[in-house]
Amino acid sequence: MTVAPEIFETSPEKLLAPVLSAFWDEPRSWTLETYLRHEGYEGARKALAMTPDDVIAYVKDSGLRGRGGAGFPTGMKWQFIPQGDDKPHYLVVNADESEPGTCKDIPLLFANPHSLIEGMLIACWAIRSSRAFIYLRGETVPVLRRLHEAVREAYAAGYLGRNILGSGLDLDITVHAGAGAYICGEETALLDSLEGRRGQPRLRPPFPAVAGLYACPTVVNNVESIASVPAILNKGKEWFRSMGSEKSPGFTLYSLSGHVANPGQYEAPLGITLGQLLGMSGGMRPGHRLKFWTPGGSSTPLLTDEHLDVPLDYEAVGAAGSMLGTKALQCFDETTCVVRAVTRWTEFYAHESCGKCTPCREGTYWLVQLLRDIEAGKGRMSDLDKLADIADNINGKSFCALGDGAASPIFSSLKYFRAEYEQHVKGRGCPFDPARSTVWADDPDNHRHSPVGVNA
Ligand SMILES: Cc1cc2nc3c(=O)[nH]c(=O)nc-3n(C[C@H](O)[C@H](O)[C@H](O)COP(=O)(O)O)c2cc1C
Ligand code: SF4
Repeated sequence: MTVAPEIFETSPEKLLAPVLSAFWDEPRSWTLETYLRHEGYEGARKALAMTPDDVIAYVKDSGLRGRGGAGFPTGMKWQFIPQGDDKPHYLVVNADESEPGTCKDIPLLFANPHSLIEGMLIACWAIRSSRAFIYLRGETVPVLRRLHEAVREAYAAGYLGRNILGSGLDLDITVHAGAGAYICGEETALLDSLEGRRGQPRLRPPFPAVAGLYACPTVVNNVESIASVPAILNKGKEWFRSMGSEKSPGFTLYSLSGHVANPGQYEAPLGITLGQLLGMSGGMRPGHRLKFWTPGGSSTPLLTDEHLDVPLDYEAVGAAGSMLGTKALQCFDETTCVVRAVTRWTEFYAHESCGKCTPCREGTYWLVQLLRDIEAGKGRMSDLDKLADIADNINGKSFCALGDGAASPIFSSLKYFRAEYEQHVKGRGCPFDPARSTVWADDPDNHRHSPVGVNA
């Protein structure tokens, strides 16, 4: 890892901006009592004293962008909800969080669930909704329990229910546990699942803002997007804009994981670099160096140690050839076989493909076959172009973004580590695993018919 020495001298206090995570280390941080001690529900009081349209304009002016992956401006999304249409409006919070590497919403809900409930209160006032849902990844039962308890506390204290804080707003929140499918994080599949159907993406248009849940205008937002709103209302949009850049303002949660000395959630302004985060957090595990990393989960093209100084905001990461995504910084050191890592990710996508469209359903299956062969020393040089070709037939040609996400690790690993794929083919196995690299000593053109299994 080539990190400038001065990065290691930067103190965490100068770089971090704990807001959502400010009191996670306090005993019983998740309770209403703790939340109120930290100015909890003050943002909601301010919002309820404004008109709904003014709240939308305020959030728009703050420059908050969705933290679910695409970075769509939150205030603008709220503005799309038609007014005076006499239909119910819904807010649905996306807490499905199932992408490999992405792990910020679950810790946030576990440690500070009231920031989400307060954010929902503000959002529902803005979009004139009296019914909201939290679609939670169902496997996280402790978080489910904590959310149920936080909702109960909020009802008991008058932050949910009828005529909240004398504003005239009625709001009910339903916490719904999903059944653990990655595709149910895609917003339209989520809506189908919430309506009781099999979770598969819907054709758009119509977009959820026009015909979402039960065919009514619906805002779908990520947990962190909504949980960031109370602090903006409470401390001001100028305060929020004082962090980050013009187009990517504010604070956010970065999830550092993998072969690092100190994995965890690091809340900092947008635009911090991975080099700075590693510098303040102790770097890679002792004696090892960074080989590759994802800036925002497995569906964002991987980057290498050349990209340590790329500012982690939407524009700069895009310019570097990847996407900020969910800011899930999964770091892999030089002991990791890139072919193996990409194979595991692709197996995940093939398993999670909902099967609705052919490029993704068939393409991810064939990618896995080729990758398993290459990993096991049964690949041919022509397979590398075949991988790129199949990924190209998935990317941009699938029904939803899961397909694009599946193509990302293929393209980016071939771009930066083609030589490592070639080593697997030439050496008849994984160079990181000497026991396996000698298995295939027969003719490379016949090896697919070898009796030795893929995982031998
Ligand atoms: C396969 C797939 C999985 C997704 N999973 C999630 C998820 O778990 N959480 C999430 O907030 N967004 C997820 N998204 C993005 C959502 O479709 C949607 O863009 C997001 O919830 C919008 O929230 P935001 O505007 O607040 O960022 C996923 C998208 C795809 C294609
Ligand atoms: S891209 Fe994949 S997950 Fe999305 S609709 Fe098509 S088959 Fe389903």
